[in-house]
Amino acid sequence: MEKKRSSFTGKLGFVLAAAGSAVGLGNLWRFPYLAAKYGGGIFLLVYIILAVTFGFSLMVAEIVIGRKTGLSPVGAFAKLNKKFAFIGYLGAIIPMLILPYYSVIGGWVMKYFAAFVSGNGHNAASDTYFDGFITGVGEPIIWFVLFIAITMTVVLLGVEKGIEKVSKIMMPVLVVLSIFVAVYVMFLDGAWAGVVYYIKPDFSNFSIMTVIAAMGQLFYSMSLAMGIMITYGSYMKKDVNIEKSVHHIEIFDTGIAFLAGLMIIPAVFAFHGGEESALGKGPSLMFVTLPKVFDSIWGGQVIGTLFFILVLLAALTSSISLAETVVSVVQDKFKIDRKVTCLIVLGGCLLLGLPSALGYGVLGGVKILGLQFLDLFDFISNSILMPIVAICTCVFIGFVIKPKAIEEEIEISAPFKAKKLFNVVIKYIAPVFLVAILVSSILDVFGVIKI
Ligand code: PFF
Repeated sequence: MEKKRSSFTGKLGFVLAAAGSAVGLGNLWRFPYLAAKYGGGIFLLVYIILAVTFGFSLMVAEIVIGRKTGLSPVGAFAKLNKKFAFIGYLGAIIPMLILPYYSVIGGWVMKYFAAFVSGNGHNAASDTYFDGFITGVGEPIIWFVLFIAITMTVVLLGVEKGIEKVSKIMMPVLVVLSIFVAVYVMFLDGAWAGVVYYIKPDFSNFSIMTVIAAMGQLFYSMSLAMGIMITYGSYMKKDVNIEKSVHHIEIFDTGIAFLAGLMIIPAVFAFHGGEESALGKGPSLMFVTLPKVFDSIWGGQVIGTLFFILVLLAALTSSISLAETVVSVVQDKFKIDRKVTCLIVLGGCLLLGLPSALGYGVLGGVKILGLQFLDLFDFISNSILMPIVAICTCVFIGFVIKPKAIEEEIEISAPFKAKKLFNVVIKYIAPVFLVAILVSSILDVFGVIKI
């Protein structure tokens, strides 16, 4: 007999659980470095436009597919149309690629937390600290292994709820702390130019790369195009207003990313003068800049400790939802014991994560398609696979099951206000646009065009 699916208690439960998956390193670590690199205000503007059109439509679509079928991705697509089960499988590959390198960055956060909690915040703020750490061999591996071990232990013991409860309390603290830090940074010497760079769109900074990067970031940050929201939707009760819930998740997710940028980008201007080399730092940006901010604040040791533990929790709720997805797909597919599955997933992550952990040190010289390992995994999942899954999902809804099927499910609980927007985006704008950016990012990485 099939087990009855448990469900979230009401709308708040759903929004908080989805937000727990959505808000993570994507918002706090990835968004600021992309915004810094790809034009500041213009990136922010493009991101927001994409979020309220594409992000909104795709998230609604995924949640509806889950709620309508009551199944996780592979089963859900198969139930709606047998021939399209492959979209579910394709989506399931993405968390497998993200989880290992996500855990590498999670390890970096742990390392900085350890530095601050042990009173070494001042050292962590020095110019050479990050490079010293990341070019080593033992340390990046140890912290990475620790992070993935914690994630897998939580998944194995099934104590996610405990972690989620803690993070529900800590998330508001993170918001308040971020506002405090952002306001403090704003008044540092030279920071104002950074605030302007971040908020005021400068159209001369626009390039196709701005759109490609913003789109990849949108999928990543909102946990889209990899079946997560389908799974969450399958636990949602029929009387919950889907449209409103999506608005709330979006505001939460984008709000935290915005705040993270407001802490970090002006700080780059204050401490490094906002030169291109400093803005283009990439994955290391948060770790190089924030310790300097904490070091300059009275009580910064405590504030830094608090900040990094909060980021760590946000990262854990996201990595747990990634791992949970991977485990359930492998378990369903191969019908093996959950414990064994967790071990296999752990082994796979260690194997795939190691090159990313060492990519800045001993493996620094190895580049594939001109990218370091961490950037390569990030590129394959965010710039190639996610757009492909999103295109397939849009075509599936627009032309196979038809948007009407989605509308009906939404209207069980409330009128669908953005029906027109949803229709046009899913059927025409999203597929055309996604194909264009997918093709240009592939051509770019293979060196056919330079964008
Ligand atoms: N959305 C998370 C973040 O922004 O950090 C990352 C993520 C978590 C992506 C879970 C995908 C996922 F399934």
